[in-house]
Amino acid sequence: MTGSLRDDAGASANCDTGDAQTSVECELRPTRRTFMLRCAGAGALGALAAAPAAISIIAVRSQGESNLRVALGPISRFSSPGVTQVVVFADVRDGWSQRPHEPIGAVWVVRRDDGTMQVLSATCPHMGCGTTSKGTSIECPCHRSTFTLDGVRVPGGPSPRDLDVLEHVVEGDELRIQFVRYRAGLAERVVQGA
Ligand code: FES
Repeated sequence: MTGSLRDDAGASANCDTGDAQTSVECELRPTRRTFMLRCAGAGALGALAAAPAAISIIAVRSQGESNLRVALGPISRFSSPGVTQVVVFADVRDGWSQRPHEPIGAVWVVRRDDGTMQVLSATCPHMGCGTTSKGTSIECPCHRSTFTLDGVRVPGGPSPRDLDVLEHVVEGDELRIQFVRYRAGLAERVVQGA
């Protein structure tokens, strides 16, 4: 499997398929990976590729692609304080066919004022909807869970846990993450397909 990323501006970057290739291929199973829209009224996935910004209100679920090392591109793309949503694309094998460059999820890259960085899954842990940024918070439009920009739950919403933190590393000038998909609806983090 190979993958790539595209941000809201439509820029793209190649996935890292070097060191991570073994673990990625271990995730591939000869079962049909059906992408499901979790939010009512969501459009087709093809529309996501045409309008990546729409990922913020549409969530995608698959049974595979749950552990994929990807490169987000130059760290300079995330130099300003704030949150940036990045849509994750990958080439998906589905039984006998292969669908190139499909959106499989999204992440938040959080750059704090002190220069430190965090990468969060943009998928709500409650039921898997996509989250949106409100400037000073991250919110889920489905059932109104709210999170701080560090991904911590604000009391009052139904999400059973904070937004999932994804491992990241800066190698040279490049930001890389381990894109992991966790099961929704659980207080603890359980990798999908595990
Ligand atoms: S899916 Fe996000 S609050 Fe329900």
